[in-house]
Amino acid sequence: MTKAIRFHATGGPEVLRLEEVEIGEPGPGEVRIRNAAIAVNYRDILVRRGTHRVALPSGLGLESAGVIEAIGAQVSGLAIGQRVACVAGPDGAYAQARLAPAARVVRLPEGIEARVAAAMMIRGMTARYLLHETFRVKAGDTILVHAAAGGVGLILCQWAKHLGATVIGTVGSADKAAIARAHGCDHPIVIGGGEPEDFVARVRALTGGAGVPVVYDSIGKATFEGSLACLARRGLLASFGEASGDPDPVAPRRLGALGSVYLTHPSLGDYTATRADLLASANHLFDMVASRKIRIEISADYALRDAARAHADMEQRRTTGSIVLIA
Ligand SMILES: NC(=O)c1ccc[n+]([C@@H]2O[C@H](COP(=O)([O-])OP(=O)(O)OC[C@H]3O[C@@H](n4cnc5c(N)ncnc54)[C@H](OP(=O)(O)O)[C@@H]3O)[C@@H](O)[C@H]2O)c1
Repeated sequence: MTKAIRFHATGGPEVLRLEEVEIGEPGPGEVRIRNAAIAVNYRDILVRRGTHRVALPSGLGLESAGVIEAIGAQVSGLAIGQRVACVAGPDGAYAQARLAPAARVVRLPEGIEARVAAAMMIRGMTARYLLHETFRVKAGDTILVHAAAGGVGLILCQWAKHLGATVIGTVGSADKAAIARAHGCDHPIVIGGGEPEDFVARVRALTGGAGVPVVYDSIGKATFEGSLACLARRGLLASFGEASGDPDPVAPRRLGALGSVYLTHPSLGDYTATRADLLASANHLFDMVASRKIRIEISADYALRDAARAHADMEQRRTTGSIVLIA
């Protein structure tokens, strides 16, 4: 038996319950991981609310790090006692231990502790594909990153800076602006609070009217139209999250009228679909962190039983960087 966070109905943070569950032995192709730390990702909130549907009752979470304690048949390259991280469904990472498909398990290098690994795998691999694959950011580009002080945001700012870009970022408060700036955001724009700035006007002013070649938008409904308006001719909007809700539909012809711009909704799963892609992505991230080009900021740790409090803090925009549950 192990303790796990489960929910029987969708709703607010209060639907999350700590329960005893039987997880059993790993089947073919599976390992059992004794979790040390578990990521709280914004998508977990959307699953809990029912925006992303799962069959109920359900566990929650895709991402954790710990030690392999049992191995099923037909698993090669992994051994009991190895330190690993895993990003995989079905939802169930919010637990002291979990079964995971071996194909999605990555060994952790020396020097990357489990707590940091749990905080960075989804967010860091997402930042990587956004900057290197969805749109190839190069030295001299000026880009726009929304939620720049958030978990993905702080990694995007640092990585883009390393690539030689100028980073414009939106944040919810002056305090978050200072944090984003300390992580490579050249021009933080405060769009929350009592006197929100007009980020479209600021982006146009900062780019001499030209607009930016790429916008990374994880906020969704509240920023989507402004993000389109910030694009340079033939620019690309990577709409990769919906913290404020789903944007309204866009007719293709509007993209032409806006300057033959591109719109995509990329997902990490499609950029790490093969084992080779997953390892290339994870290893690139490990290198960036080990060489201190990127710092993984964890603004709060929570006990597993306090998952509801972690969710409330994140959805009320009280967190910066990553947050983790300690198993
Ligand atoms: N597509 C993918 O592959 C992929 C992978 C990973 C994450 N994501 C997405 O990337 C985003 C960032 O994930 P994260 O886990 O690192 O979260 P996060 O950025 O740490 O937290 C979300 C942030 O969104 C901002 N926000 C703006 N309007 C909001 C609203 N109405 N309600 C709540 N938050 C609002 C807040 O920052 P301010 O207060 O500073 O505005 C908040 O801190 C999420 O949307 C997530 O779903 C997508």
